[in-house]
Amino acid sequence: MKITNVEFVISAVRPDQYPVDDLPEFALAGRSNVGKSSLINKMIMRKGLARTSAQPGKTQQLNYYRVNERVYLVDFPGYGYAKVSKVQRAQFGTMIETFLGDRDPLRMVLLIVDIRHSPSKDDILMYDWLKHYEIPVCVVTTKADKVPKSQWPKQVKMIKTELGFHPEDRHVLFSSETGLGREELWAIIDEVIAE
Ligand code: GTP
Ligand code: MG
Repeated sequence: MKITNVEFVISAVRPDQYPVDDLPEFALAGRSNVGKSSLINKMIMRKGLARTSAQPGKTQQLNYYRVNERVYLVDFPGYGYAKVSKVQRAQFGTMIETFLGDRDPLRMVLLIVDIRHSPSKDDILMYDWLKHYEIPVCVVTTKADKVPKSQWPKQVKMIKTELGFHPEDRHVLFSSETGLGREELWAIIDEVIAE
């Protein structure tokens, strides 16, 4: 997809700060440091718009990016980062639950996992939770550049099995380093918007 316009709209911590223009929203969930913000930057072709870091815990609010005035990508704080305080973790949890449980414009959650590793307990909980609330999911196995291509099918199969992946959900292989999967993910987003 050709990106003509991207705006960082708001870092929201409360529902009354979410945008009210009703554009379809695609939220990114995943472990801290898995590469959510990097994926957004790759999708929108802007290197540093979504703040990334080698240190986990960089993204701490729901960050809204409006793309081509037609869709929001919503960057979430990562889960599972040990150094975040208990109170802060509980606050993130509540914020994400409030959002996912009651957000009309939300069309799909992109569940970002690292292709090199088994999904964490939190990944599995998140996936089960999304299924429970009947939120469509696209599992994105990212950092594909970090393993040889010959291992991709085996890794993807392992991750799908461990998550209990449902056949109605989508999957994309991705790399924010090489841009692999970028067009495919935009095509999925377009399809879901058109539904
Ligand atoms: P939090 O905001 O802490 O939840 O992290 P995040 O999921 O937004 O991760 P972020 O995008 O900040 O990336 C974390 C680290 O992984 C950075 O050092 C990135 O450069 C690196 N990274 C992200 N995606 C890829 C990828 O596809 N390939 C490679 N090689 N590195 C990646
Ligand atoms: Mg981030």
